[in-house]
Amino acid sequence: MLNFKNNPPLSLYIHLPWCIKKCPYCDFNSHATNKETFPEDAYIDVLISDLESELPRIWGRPIVSIFIGGGTPSLFSAKAINRLMVALRERLTFYHHTEVTMEANPGTAEADRFKAYRESGINRLSIGVQSFNDEKLKVLGRIHNSAEAKAAIAMAKDAGFDEINIDLMFGLPEQSIGEAMSDLETAMGQQPSHLSWYQLTIEPNTIFYSKPPALPDDDLLWSMQAQGQAYLSDSGFDQYEISAYARKGMNHQCQHNLNYWQFGDYLGIGAGAHGKLTHVVEGKIERYSRHRIPQSYIDKVGQLNAITDSRQLGRDELPLEFMMNALRLNEGFHPSLFIERTGLPLNHIQKQLEIAEEKALIEWDINKIKPTETGHRYLNDLIQLFIK
Ligand SMILES: C[S@@+](CC[C@H](N)C(=O)[O-])C[C@H]1O[C@@H](n2cnc3c(N)ncnc32)[C@H](O)[C@@H]1O
Ligand code: SF4
Repeated sequence: MLNFKNNPPLSLYIHLPWCIKKCPYCDFNSHATNKETFPEDAYIDVLISDLESELPRIWGRPIVSIFIGGGTPSLFSAKAINRLMVALRERLTFYHHTEVTMEANPGTAEADRFKAYRESGINRLSIGVQSFNDEKLKVLGRIHNSAEAKAAIAMAKDAGFDEINIDLMFGLPEQSIGEAMSDLETAMGQQPSHLSWYQLTIEPNTIFYSKPPALPDDDLLWSMQAQGQAYLSDSGFDQYEISAYARKGMNHQCQHNLNYWQFGDYLGIGAGAHGKLTHVVEGKIERYSRHRIPQSYIDKVGQLNAITDSRQLGRDELPLEFMMNALRLNEGFHPSLFIERTGLPLNHIQKQLEIAEEKALIEWDINKIKPTETGHRYLNDLIQLFIK
């Protein structure tokens, strides 16, 4: 039995699984649909039932953040999103500062819709730009061009969003350092509050996996990353996680992702959504996921057991699970966070920490456990030390 004193912070993830077109690099649970005919109302209904079935497990716990992700949540009409937001407010306890993010694709951006999302309580927009280079956008199979991406960001600002994230990728097919830097410069020119800058990875079950494009080699990727990081820092953006950069000043870090990285709890509702819940009294941590296929999720949401895979994390899995998240953070974590979030004593990982320190992969004292630059560069090697 794990030993917990308190519940960790609780977030909510809501998955909206449809897109206008499937991108060739994407392995998220997203499905191409006709934007006029996808089952918008039925899906909002089942999300609400799904949430209701979870309420007894989280009574009294306020929600620190909500993330409406996809797929392309901005395919959903303002009316549907408002109905969802009203249902959430009626059933959950929010803080006044609860972060509510929604993902938007520039190919589905509309000014009135963005305004209505803001009015319904969404207070952060995450815009999937990927690149500002029209050639690259074509290769990535995107449904928008660079001008439409800039227009979507401007619309988000006009709609009153102060917290705007831009998703960009680097290491694109045949991308040069100059092209990657030019994407970053254009992104900075749009003055977002946050940037997620991901290295393109080739995932199984994608078109890029079966027909691999020519990607920059490891040396080029490393130079891109080093130059990009230096440029973003000079532009007033702090890197706080492998791929996440927040504008300096007020706290613009993504509270939702931060809760994942700090091994907090989250409910996951919607097709294919994942959740993690700590059961303080029983001394257990549970991970679960919902059925991935949207139509069978809709059909069966009344019988939750039929669409949920659930399992309890074993003591020996927890160090790896915790480190896979917390060591992504540039500042690492306070040693007490490991104890609080895993319910294990620190001596459970004493040996691994000593090895990581000897290999100069972490700095470690009574106030912090922090990856070194080498630790971040070779994060997989560092994390693997915690496999039991
Ligand atoms: C779930 S997607 C949702 C965003 C929205 N659907 C869009 O694409 O406009 C979140 C982000 O993950 C990133 N992403 C998706 N597939 C990726 C891959 N294979 N490698 C790196 N980043 C990826 C993209 O930057 C994307 O914006
Ligand atoms: S729009 Fe986003 S979620 Fe949809 S397929 Fe493309 S990357 Fe994936």
